[in-house]
Amino acid sequence: MKKIPYCAILLTLSSSPLLAEDKVDFEKQIYPLIKTSCVTCHRPAYDETKDGQTRTKKPKAGIIFSTKEGILTAKGEDEKLVLVPGDADKSRMLQVTLLPIDDDMHFPPKDKAPQWTKIDQELFAKWIKSGADFGSWTADPAPNEGLEWDGKEKP
Ligand code: HEC
Repeated sequence: MKKIPYCAILLTLSSSPLLAEDKVDFEKQIYPLIKTSCVTCHRPAYDETKDGQTRTKKPKAGIIFSTKEGILTAKGEDEKLVLVPGDADKSRMLQVTLLPIDDDMHFPPKDKAPQWTKIDQELFAKWIKSGADFGSWTADPAPNEGLEWDGKEKP
């Protein structure tokens, strides 16, 4: 009987473009979604000057989504972690975006930041289910920049 070149098969599999595409890249594919839709309200405390008065703005609900540590330690009102690696159903960080838009606990609030599309939500769920790997990303170096929104929802 002919011997099957086992290594050759493995090599072919691991270099298949389909498998390579399967891995979700946090920095390239996930963080941009969080930045545009969540970081406006969930960033480290910062000073804002309006009408000559400077005020310190605190992260909403004490939640910071612009750092890996912030995301991994963020808790909801129920004191449970909002990201549960491996379990998209238990991850409130995803579930709040899926609630009806008029629900008090739907985030981002209507008209405050762009909503996640179905594709965004599916990608985020996939990232959670595959273990929520951050790669080498640890923090957004400029959480206060690039947050402007033209008020238009994504198509
Ligand atoms: C305009 C401000 C704003 C934006 C944008 C925003 N949030 Fe929030 N978020 C809040 C506030 C305020 C709370 C505190 C809950 C409350 O009292 O309404 C909160 C609370 C939460 C909670 C805790 C919910 C709980 O169970 O206690 C989660 C999770 C959350 N936000 C996720 C997100 C995600 C994910 C995004 C982006 C997709 C986002 N938020 C965008 C303002 C915002």
